Formats: sequence, structure tokens, C-alpha cells
Amino acid sequence: MYTHEDLAALQAQSLRMQTWIRKQTFSPEMEKTLRRFSSWEVAELILKVNQSTFRGRLAADPSLPDGEVEEEGRQRWYSLDEINELRRRMKVNRRSLLPYRPAGKRAIRAAIANFKGGAGKSTVALHFAHAAALDGYRVLLIDFDPQATLSHAMGMTDVDEDHTVWGIMARDLVRETDRMNAASVGAESGTALPRRQLPASIRDLGLSGLRATDFIKPTSWPTIDIIPSCANAAFVEFASAQYRHLNPDWSFFACVARYLEGIPDDAYDLILFDCPPAIGYQSMNAVFAADMLYIPSGPGYWEYDSTTSFIGQLAEALEDLAAGFETFPAGKVALPKAFLELRFLLTRYEPGNELHRAMRDAFRKVFGAHVTEHPIELTRAVEQSGRFLCSVYEIDYRDMTRETWRRARATFDQAYDEFRASFCSAWDKVDAGREDAA
Ligand SMILES: Nc1ncnc2c1ncn2[C@@H]1O[C@H](COP(=O)(O)OP(=O)(O)OP(=O)(O)O)[C@@H](O)[C@H]1O
Ligand SMILES: [Mg+2]
Repeated sequence: MYTHEDLAALQAQSLRMQTWIRKQTFSPEMEKTLRRFSSWEVAELILKVNQSTFRGRLAADPSLPDGEVEEEGRQRWYSLDEINELRRRMKVNRRSLLPYRPAGKRAIRAAIANFKGGAGKSTVALHFAHAAALDGYRVLLIDFDPQATLSHAMGMTDVDEDHTVWGIMARDLVRETDRMNAASVGAESGTALPRRQLPASIRDLGLSGLRATDFIKPTSWPTIDIIPSCANAAFVEFASAQYRHLNPDWSFFACVARYLEGIPDDAYDLILFDCPPAIGYQSMNAVFAADMLYIPSGPGYWEYDSTTSFIGQLAEALEDLAAGFETFPAGKVALPKAFLELRFLLTRYEPGNELHRAMRDAFRKVFGAHVTEHPIELTRAVEQSGRFLCSVYEIDYRDMTRETWRRARATFDQAYDEFRASFCSAWDKVDAGREDAA
């Protein structure tokens, strides 16, 4: 017979293995580092300028960053910081190389969500973050999933649960409860309003003293930060139910939305949420804070089935929220929740597979223009990168056949380009009327 002690022993064994895998994957100090990008990649794939124009510009202005040359190599290799400096300082045909950003807006927020496990959420979130960073955007990733796939892929180790979405929620509970209690005292009819007590066990966590930035960690990508997750954050699902009981007026689903309002508008361009494969407090917070929903789905019939039940469950959950919090103040977090954009993205798609093509047609028939034009194809590069916890953008193209790398990159590039078009058009609509609502 086996008890919790046996489970704990098995876990300890597994953790040792994890450490070993990370040592093989990251640099010896267990720190993930970002590779440099060749002048070919920088010109053609990143800045999208003709290679000879690129070389001409560099030759004409010696003050521009000039990368590094590898031993016995001919190409120059640039860091992302150098690429961003080139992007800021170079103009081609008087055109700026900086990416589109509507003036005066906060970052656009996209949730990559599906309650179906293994749909490709974390892979999509990771690749979109990397593609956006290479495109010149500043990205904040939020890992809502205690499986922490995305956090591991971004090189995060030793995350404690206080600094995850769980911490944000617990901090929000304390702050919101204090705010409500202060309001009940301030109101003329204050004596009639209930004062809510939180147990010392919650206050003693000291989370209300944390600043917004305390949750945000840098990564090996200079323009990508992350609010990571960890296995212990799974506990949040139990804790949150208890918290709701302590303060029934607490809008538990809006913690992350409120948290994000505290981040300066121009700190990031894109905020991406990787969601867990379940409906719960964390995923509802992700969905509620999101301007747009991106729903990855595998190309099989069962995946179509689960995606359908996902949107059904989500619709019900959002309807319940709208009904249960009728008196919830309008404004920054208004109810019912409305998304600026809603897209379905097929993943692990094989163009030569008849079933996949049939499912793609079915998706299009049912969801129409909500289905992205470009699915993400199944690629060996990603299967391999999954094992090594990195994206196709991080893989040096010399580590595999150029054709495999190019195909993998092309499929993610196309999906990203479409994603960018979606978020840019949604971005223009963000917070129209924010002033009226405030
Ligand atoms: N385009 C692709 N080509 C090949 N393999 C892929 C592709 N997309 C995802 N995978 C693989 O499928 C598996 C599941 O992907 P991923 O972890 O991204 O799914 P998920 O939806 O985040 O899962 P979970 O619900 O557990 O969070 C991984 O092993 C990943 O490497
Ligand atoms: Mg995942």
C-alpha cells in the first residue's frame, strides 16, 4: 500500500531528474542564455530589410552596433539588445523599423486558452512571445498554469508561490477587503455595512506589502519579463474557494485585471497569458483580464469536441459572473466581460493529413472568420525543442537541417503575423471610453 510518504519520495526522485535535465539544457550555471542572431537572420527574418541594404547601412555608420564574429566564421552575430538598437536607429526608405504601437495606450493583453490539455497553449504562448520580442515589442508573460511549462521554458527555476498569480490573488483579497471596510466606515450608513475579517494566517503572509513589480521577473530575453508559476501554486484553487467564503463581495475573478492596472501603460506592449487546462480561479482571472482570446486546438475530432465544450463552459462561467456580480461597479473591469477579438488557431496540423484537412474545414464552417487562416504545422523542430525547453527562434539553425528549421520558423512566423494583425486592430479599440467609465 502506498501513502503520501511514498508519493513524496517519488516526487523527490523526480525532482532530482528535473535538475539533471535542466543542467543538460541550460548553461552550467543553470541559467538560460539567449543566443545571438546572424546578420542573415537579422536582415532577412527580423528587420526584413534586404541584406545588401543592411550591410550598406552598417558600413555607412560605424557607430551602429556591429555584433561579434565567431572564430573562423564570416558572419556577424548580434544580441537582441543590439538588434533593438539597430531597429531604433536605422531607417529604410525613410521608414522606421519600429513596430506599430498606438500612442498613449496600455499594453494589449491576449489569453492563450483552452481547457483541453495538450492543445499547444504553452507552445503558442512561448513562440508568440519570442516572435513579438524579435519584432521589437516588449512582452510580459503571465504563467497561470501551476504545471509551469512556460516558466520552465523561459528558464525560471526556484519560483515560490507567493510570487505567482496565487500571490497576486491573495494580495488582492487583502487590499480589496481593506478598501471595502474603509468604504463602509466612510459611508454615512456605514454602521449598516458588514465589516469583513480576514484571518491572521492570510494577513501574516505580508503579500499586501508587495509592490506590483515584485511579481515580475526578468528572463534571458532582454525584452521579455515573466510572472512565473510553480507547482505549489496549484494550491490556489483550494485557497481561493476559502477566500471567497471569507469575503463574498470580493470579485475574485478580477484580481489580475486590477493588478495590471497598476503597471504603467508604457511598460510593455504585449501581455500574454498561458492558461491551465481547466476552468478555475486562475483561468477565470486570465480570461477576465484579457482583451482577446486566442484558442489553440489540435486538429483531431476529439480536440474539436473539447474546444466546443470549452467555449460552452466558458460562456456559462462568464454568464454566471455577470449575474452573480450584478452590482459590480462598472469601469475598468466592467461586466459582462467582452472580448475585442476571439480566434481559433489549429496546432500540430499536418497539411498532408486528410483528417486534419477535414477538421480544418469543419472548424471554418462552424467558426467562420474566427478561425485563423494559418494553422501551426506539426514540426520536428518543436518536438525537439519541447525536450530542450526552447522555441524554434532560440534554436541555432546550424543545429538541425536548414530546411527543418526554416519550415518550423515559417509556420510560427505566419501564425504570429496573423496574431499581430489581430492584436494591432484590437489595440486600437482598447479602453475607448475608459475616461467615461472612470
Ligand atoms: N506545432 C507543433 N509541432 C510539434 N509538436 C508540438 C507542436 N505544438 C505543440 N507540440 C507538442 O505538443 C505537446 C503539448 O503542447 P503544449 O504543452 O504547448 O500544450 P498545452 O496546451 O500547453 O498543454 P497543457 O494543457 O498541459 O498546458 C508538447 O509536447 C509540445 O512539444
Ligand atoms: Mg501548457
